Amino acid sequence: MLLLVLFGRTAIIVFVVDRAPPRKKNQPSPPPLLKNQKQKNRVDAVIHFAGYKAVGESVDKPLEYYDNNIVSTVVLVETMRKHGVYNLVFSSSCTVYGNPDTVPITEQVKLTATSPYGRTKLYQEEMFRDLAASPVEKGQWRILLLRYFNPVGAHASGELGEHPVGVPNNLMPYVHQVALGQREFLRVFGGDYPTPDGTCIRDYIHVVDLADGHVSAVEKLLSAPGFGCQAVNLGTGKGTSVLEMVKTFQEVTGAKVAYQVVDRRAGDVIEVWASTATAEKALGWKAKRSLEDMCRDQWNWASKYPQGYETKE
Ligand SMILES: NC(=O)c1ccc[n+]([C@@H]2O[C@H](COP(=O)([O-])OP(=O)(O)OC[C@H]3O[C@@H](n4cnc5c(N)ncnc54)[C@H](O)[C@@H]3O)[C@@H](O)[C@H]2O)c1
Repeated sequence: MLLLVLFGRTAIIVFVVDRAPPRKKNQPSPPPLLKNQKQKNRVDAVIHFAGYKAVGESVDKPLEYYDNNIVSTVVLVETMRKHGVYNLVFSSSCTVYGNPDTVPITEQVKLTATSPYGRTKLYQEEMFRDLAASPVEKGQWRILLLRYFNPVGAHASGELGEHPVGVPNNLMPYVHQVALGQREFLRVFGGDYPTPDGTCIRDYIHVVDLADGHVSAVEKLLSAPGFGCQAVNLGTGKGTSVLEMVKTFQEVTGAKVAYQVVDRRAGDVIEVWASTATAEKALGWKAKRSLEDMCRDQWNWASKYPQGYETKE
């Protein structure tokens, strides 16, 4: 999880993870993060990333998802209000578009959700819109709902990347695990979709571009008072099929990714990519990194730390 809080005018970007990050021998432990910071410093803005996010799990455990994602958000917002902090950036998702009829997807498309996870994002968004519109709140809230498309890749240093627990739900960690020989082959769900190569199309965005989008969002909150609550897509505006992604990964890394095309997976949307016009206009932000960058940085992280954060010294 990535957490960014602005103390005074100084942005402190903190990567918060469940497990200790890979650490070299004799490297000192980090200072206790954020401990008592609220008392010592003025907090200008909060970025809210915390939440459960597995679609399949949310179908099995809806109550846990509503409880964790929604109740914790209410508590966070109450705490912010108590301390007079009204600037918020929220991790939303393109899942709030459900199965869109047309691409590219603009923020004006009718919202819907196809899973309990998606509904928690949708209800959180609705809550933020209500909060910003409430006359009692006196228009103090400035909230940016960032609708992520498909974040992939890792930090270019190779020191920070995604560590999926168990079988990865997302494409790229699965791809890199196959390339590492940790899994036998990638299952490509559906090869008969009405797309050029028959596989689903997504808008993959480099995770560092995504992080940059958050910095732009906070800068916007701090420089443009009084706009209430606004949704912004964070994507590249380009669609890539599953097979295109696998091909690019193999070309960039030289690693082999065995795959088999299997039956379609229930609930998969055929093609999704973002309209990026709002992000460019409202945040002055545009994704810069290519598909090749995403694959190279994903592989750099994976080959450096094949066991992710469980790497032993
Ligand atoms: N990764 C994606 O593809 C993607 C796409 C769209 C939106 N998002 C959203 O972005 C956010 C971050 O996603 P991620 O990929 O970093 O997920 P992640 O699962 O790696 O990180 C989420 C973190 O939040 C923590 N968390 C969960 N509930 C909490 C609570 N009540 N209090 C404190 N911590 C809690 C988890 O322990 C975890 O460390 C999530 O809200 C997710 O829904 C992610």
